[in-house]
Amino acid sequence: MKRRAKPIWLLGIILMLVACSPDAERESIKPEEGPPSPKEEEPIRIGFSMDTLLEERWLKDRDLFKEAVEALGAEVEIFAANGDDALQISQAERLIQSGVDVLVIVPHNAEATAAIVHKAHLAGIKVIAYDRLVKNSNLDLYVSFDNEQVGEMQAKAITELVPKGNYVIIGGAITDNNAHLLKKGVFKVLRPYIENGDINIIYDQWTKDWTPVNANANMEEALRTTNLQIDAVIAANDATAGGVIEALEAKGLAGQIPVAGQDADLAGVQRIVKGTQTMTVYKPIHMLSEEVAKLAVSMAKGENINAGQKVKNGKIEVPSVLLTPIPVNKSNLNTTVITDGFHSEEEVYQE
Ligand code: BGC
Repeated sequence: MKRRAKPIWLLGIILMLVACSPDAERESIKPEEGPPSPKEEEPIRIGFSMDTLLEERWLKDRDLFKEAVEALGAEVEIFAANGDDALQISQAERLIQSGVDVLVIVPHNAEATAAIVHKAHLAGIKVIAYDRLVKNSNLDLYVSFDNEQVGEMQAKAITELVPKGNYVIIGGAITDNNAHLLKKGVFKVLRPYIENGDINIIYDQWTKDWTPVNANANMEEALRTTNLQIDAVIAANDATAGGVIEALEAKGLAGQIPVAGQDADLAGVQRIVKGTQTMTVYKPIHMLSEEVAKLAVSMAKGENINAGQKVKNGKIEVPSVLLTPIPVNKSNLNTTVITDGFHSEEEVYQE
């Protein structure tokens, strides 16, 4: 019994000593099992490098993406370069240096931004292309709408109204891969009409930086060089359609020549109501921003991403998610853009 009593008081002393040691202090604040409490965990940080905030749609993208990331308990840091390639690269470098977990990028220039993907990868950061593809890079993921389908929708709507005649194509920015995909879609639909001689492409030009001013100059040139002999216009988006319609207005032709656009910008849908623009293509931005936010946070957690599609970017086949766009004209404006709350009835009809 004597021999047993000794270990009990000894054990007491040992326990007291262990309890007072610094290691024990550390132990005592650690939960015994399960994940660490959220307070101890650094929130996931997403970097968002945007081409521009000078256009209506990108303001929506910024706000909805921020909201979606924050709803998932993560943080987002946003930069916009307003069309300056060198600035977009240096802003992305700042995000990389600040140690974001994932970098999301809307490239101004599909080729130049490959440098950003490369630098992010050197720092162990994965990159998601938001809406626009980054070419010739080992991009990790691309999420967008089906841009070729946007072009097809535009051309289908216009050929239904004008199956024969002189067409003007006002393209987007040559530096943006989406502008190429749109044209591909447009020509996919127009090709048989062109081949049988029903449709004549009398003017086809890119629009530097997608600006209405540059689209307006192109349209003025088209009107001048064809002596106003134009039957239909397919413009790459609503901003360029705005520039086109201004040029038509100056010649008293607005409302007489069908014009297609894209984005369901407020000014675009107001022109549809007025009758100077024929159609637009609505892309529910909240779907895109929520999808990218969800995938970016999963990627940051190291989870596997199941992207259903693959898109070639000149170097690899990029895992991709392509959402479905919706053609909109006067007849379905209410049940799409307005029902979705993209714009209010008061704004659209200017009541
Ligand atoms: C987008 C369009 C947008 C255009 C100009 C494209 O890449 O897909 O929605 O209108 O850029 O910003």
